[in-house]
Amino acid sequence: MYALDNRIAVVTGGAQGIGEATAIRLASEGATVAIFDVNEKGQEVASRISESGGKALWFRTDVRLRNDIETSFSAVVDEFGIPSILVSNAGIVRDNFIHKMTDDDWDAVIDTHLKGGFMCAQVAQRLMIKAEQQGSFVFLSSRAMLGNPGQVNYASAKAGLIGLARTLSVELGRFGITVNVVVPGHMDTEMVRKAAERARVDYQEMCARTIERNAIKRVGQAEDIANAIAFLVSDQASYITGEVLHVTGRPPM
Ligand SMILES: NC(=O)c1ccc[n+]([C@@H]2O[C@H](COP(=O)([O-])OP(=O)(O)OC[C@H]3O[C@@H](n4cnc5c(N)ncnc54)[C@H](O)[C@@H]3O)[C@@H](O)[C@H]2O)c1
Repeated sequence: MYALDNRIAVVTGGAQGIGEATAIRLASEGATVAIFDVNEKGQEVASRISESGGKALWFRTDVRLRNDIETSFSAVVDEFGIPSILVSNAGIVRDNFIHKMTDDDWDAVIDTHLKGGFMCAQVAQRLMIKAEQQGSFVFLSSRAMLGNPGQVNYASAKAGLIGLARTLSVELGRFGITVNVVVPGHMDTEMVRKAAERARVDYQEMCARTIERNAIKRVGQAEDIANAIAFLVSDQASYITGEVLHVTGRPPM
């Protein structure tokens, strides 16, 4: 549908959940996919894509570490060529109310989402501009950016990513690079299931609450986000930049 042949995509956090669905979707549109993840399941996702006729490799990468990012991007260039798509999706939660939140909880979340997004974008734009390669970046934010009790670290990172993306959209537009943000609602992934478990919230009850408050009467699936990302990185979206697209099953606040 979006003809991503000849495009090389880096998807961080592509070993499971939204990143996995995005890697599979972009590959099905013809893109060559590089999965940057700490989780070895990235290898299984890459193998599945290859077995179904696509092209993908897993690069063990911790997005908190500049050295890992530099090394993995170099390997992508050697293996495939200059990337033209970056989906900055890798994420973790370390939820706690402010009086219990440690510096480690704060740093882990900010470093993964915000600093990781910044470093991946910085390396990608350097390679792309040098090679006069146009393309698109997509960052994953969250409704938590509006404020969510127990998530001061996560909400700050997700709000920060919007500032990062909007600034990059202005800085990189002249080089033909679009930069957009997708805001998922409640998507049925391990991140949310585990967060519910840690908070001792029954997951089925959580789903029922989501369905009740949503306009679209279901919980989101990772593929809903992958569909939006596939559009945003395609030529059809080449005049859309600095946008914050809610994929939440209800109107944005
Ligand atoms: N699921 C939701 O409802 C939801 C809602 C809003 C935003 N999001 C955001 O969407 C993104 C994907 O979430 P998900 O639900 O698929 O989560 P998930 O936990 O299922 O997957 C996250 C992936 O990121 C990887 N990762 C974590 N730390 C990493 C690191 N330092 N380096 C490289 N990879 C790392 C994990 O190994 C995993 O494969 C996250 O940024 C998350 O904050 C999710």
